[in-house]
Amino acid sequence: MPSPRSASPELQNAMDDVVEAVNRTIERLLPESDMAEGELYDAMRHGVLGGGKRLRPFLCIQSAFLFNVPSSRARRVAAAIEFMHCYSLIHDDLPAMDDASLRRGQPTVHKQYGDAAAILAGDALLTLAFEILADPETHPDPFVQAELVRELAKAAGSHGMVGGQMLDLIAERDDVDFDVGEISRLQRMKTGKLMAFACEAGAIVGKASEPQRKALCNYAHDLGLAFQVTDDILDVEADPQDTGKDTQKDEDAGKATFVSTLGKDAARARAEMIIGQAKRHLNIFEGRGKMLAELADYVLERRA
Ligand code: IPE
Ligand code: IPE
Ligand code: MG
Ligand code: MG
Ligand code: MG
Repeated sequence: MPSPRSASPELQNAMDDVVEAVNRTIERLLPESDMAEGELYDAMRHGVLGGGKRLRPFLCIQSAFLFNVPSSRARRVAAAIEFMHCYSLIHDDLPAMDDASLRRGQPTVHKQYGDAAAILAGDALLTLAFEILADPETHPDPFVQAELVRELAKAAGSHGMVGGQMLDLIAERDDVDFDVGEISRLQRMKTGKLMAFACEAGAIVGKASEPQRKALCNYAHDLGLAFQVTDDILDVEADPQDTGKDTQKDEDAGKATFVSTLGKDAARARAEMIIGQAKRHLNIFEGRGKMLAELADYVLERRA
């Protein structure tokens, strides 16, 4: 996979550091298995390792940095969030959903291991995420563990990612026509909530104040919405060589996106406006939020 373009050298270095650190943590948390069910681990590792921008881990680690959280703790939380994200991608690619054959420059998990193993690999990654968050090695305080588990459950379940994915499928139906407000809600749920949790998790582990936590959450919600808008633009105009995944799929599937409703230029203008808003939420952190602010700009310019 090519590295993402258009990041400043400082941001690119910080993103590269996160990729390396999180990959090491993932390797430790998800080793190969020589047991009879080893194929399940192969499918899980295929879905998690070997690519990915690790954007949600970046959000978690940068947020944790604001509150001086020890990096070993932040990395475990970041890995748990990436497991949750990868589960969502494995299931999103299934024939019953987006029916995709390429992900992160490789065959999708179901193409490589079959549908049943892909469903199980997703299930196992989803549950592994909670196992890690509830582990004293992630945080010794049971209240912190419980809050991480509860907030991730809210972000990933029917109020969040899964609910958004359902809306995404409902919107494909011929007799359903979502307006811009409904599409915003869909995208905030399917993409924004998990990104918001990634930022919030840093604040939970760092025992941040309520205004700090709220500011990060608002930033990430906007970032997630803009990120999904640029994902939808890339589906129309990018090359699978750059994105590592199938493109030109949304229109044929009848997906409801800002691009399908407003057109590409207006969708981009809206993403720019939302990113401006996202960055203003960071004012409370002054200079320490610089990498998060740069990440917001990168989301607009990214080609992968
Ligand atoms: C893809 O997410 C799914 C969306 C929410 C659009 P990413 O673009 O972050 O995918 P990876 O993790 O880098 O592969
Ligand atoms: C999926 O959105 C978001 C998830 C919650 C997995 P997309 O279906 O647009 O993501 P890609 O384009 O397949 O990565
Ligand atoms: Mg989808
Ligand atoms: Mg998809
Ligand atoms: Mg997409």
